[in-house]
Amino acid sequence: RRTAQEALERLIVDVPDWPEPGVTFKDITPVLADHHAFSAIITALAAAGKDDHGNVVVDKVVGMEARGFILAAPVALALGVGFVPIRKAGKLPRETHAVTYTLEYGEATLEVHRDGIAPGERVLMIDDVLATGGTVVATRQLIEACGGTATSCSVLLELGFLEPRAVTGDLPIASLLTV
Ligand code: PRP
Ligand code: MG
Repeated sequence: RRTAQEALERLIVDVPDWPEPGVTFKDITPVLADHHAFSAIITALAAAGKDDHGNVVVDKVVGMEARGFILAAPVALALGVGFVPIRKAGKLPRETHAVTYTLEYGEATLEVHRDGIAPGERVLMIDDVLATGGTVVATRQLIEACGGTATSCSVLLELGFLEPRAVTGDLPIASLLTV
């Protein structure tokens, strides 16, 4: 976990005024391009799916499109459980649950296949960045609409100044780095 945090501090690149003036974009692609860093962050993210004895305590890992996919799929493999995509509107071909939520500007809709998560399953959510918390809250609602339980969430980077925990409530969230 310390190695993962050091790798993030060293490799995440701040891009000023992108995608618009006044916003600093946190570019994680250099972390992914470094094998040792990528490996360390996947191991650290996967820890949220294990108990203190190292036993796996989740049945599924979900990743939020798009950057969450890059991290959630290897976390699922590391834990030995299945991966389920949380997709943006209109991408999934079969019956879905959908949740629409408010963004800083406008709104967004996320979807999951109704049979992607079985009733009673315990689910770990994985994404790159926790910003306002809207994506995590919507994803939790999708998991619960399937009858599953969102047991925890793990992210690389938490933007603490946006106070995401004001909206994520009692959900346990593990952030490898908070800025
Ligand atoms: C970004 C980021 C998180 C989300 C966090 O996704 O990857 O998923 O915003 O923001 P929030 O906590 O305010 O909801 P975005 O949809 O912008 O881009 P992506 O498709 O590249 O993942
Ligand atoms: Mg995203």
